[in-house]
Parts: sequence; structure tokens; C-alpha cells
Amino acid sequence: MSDDFVLDVTRIREQARQKMAEGPVTDAYGKDRERVVEILNDVIATEVVCWLRYTRHAISAVGVDRAQVSAEFTEHAKEELDHALRAAERVSQLGGEPEFDPAKLAERSHTDYTTPADHDLQQMLRDNLEAERIVIATYQEIIRWLGEDDPTTRRLMESIMEEEEEHADDLVDLLGG
Ligand SMILES: [Fe+2]
Ligand SMILES: [Fe+2]
Repeated sequence: MSDDFVLDVTRIREQARQKMAEGPVTDAYGKDRERVVEILNDVIATEVVCWLRYTRHAISAVGVDRAQVSAEFTEHAKEELDHALRAAERVSQLGGEPEFDPAKLAERSHTDYTTPADHDLQQMLRDNLEAERIVIATYQEIIRWLGEDDPTTRRLMESIMEEEEEHADDLVDLLGG
């Protein structure tokens, strides 16, 4: 069987010199860039809302297991913020504008901002577990949609999703499930 992979380097060199201001985005980019930026901005909003929820819960947790649960929430919060920043960095690489406008975060986010009225630990754990499961399901669909067309964004989403799965696992452990 012959190898039919032929790189037209002359054409690629020619194209690379055009639209230099687009930085890493070349004609080989396989996705609708604006759509990817839009989806990543939804991811940023989701991560910021998760960061806010975990931060709030870490501060207001009460009950016998307070210290352990609060420490876990604080750790998750840090990672959610890191996810938001990594998604924002990618938006910027793609030539888009990362959206951090607080007025738009809640409507873009895949998950809700919730705070149990009585600061009940079990309810907090359940709220966060539900949020993580929503995030895992939506990111899985984003990863599938990206496919082979934007491997860098896909790898970013895969690495974020891996941490969301760890979060969900931690929460199940704390719930004693
Ligand atoms: Fe996250
Ligand atoms: Fe998470």
C-alpha cells in the first residue's frame, strides 16, 4: 500500500506568510473559530460560577465535618479558577475576546450558582456533585464536537474534564457514597 500523505510545503509556506496577525491560527484550522470562541466563553462562565460556588461554600460550611469539606471545596475552587484562566488563554490564542463580564456569567454558565439556606454540608456536597456531573457531560460533548479539527482545544478540554471527574469522585467520597 502506498503512502498517499504528501505535504505541499510550498503552499503551506505561502499561506503561513499571509494573515500573520492571526498568530497560531492558520488555514489548516479545521473549525469555525468564532463558534469555538463562543463555546470556550461558555466554559469560562461555567468555571467562574463553579469557582464562586465552591469559594462561598468553603467559607460558610458548618457541621462536624466542616474542616475536611471546607478544605476540599477550597482546593476545587482553585482548580476551577485555573480552568477558567486556561480557557481564556485559548480564546485569546484563537483571536477572540475572553468574556468575564459578571452580568453575562450566570446566563452563559452550564451550571447554577446555589447556596443552601441552612449551610447544610450534605446539601452543598450534593449541589456541587450535580454541577460537576453537568460539567462532565457538557465537556464530553464539546470534546466530541471538536474531534480532530482543533486538537489543542480538545486536549485542553480533556485535561480540564479529567480534573472535573476527580472533583466528582472526591465529592462522592465525602458524601460517603
Ligand atoms: Fe472546572
Ligand atoms: Fe470541578
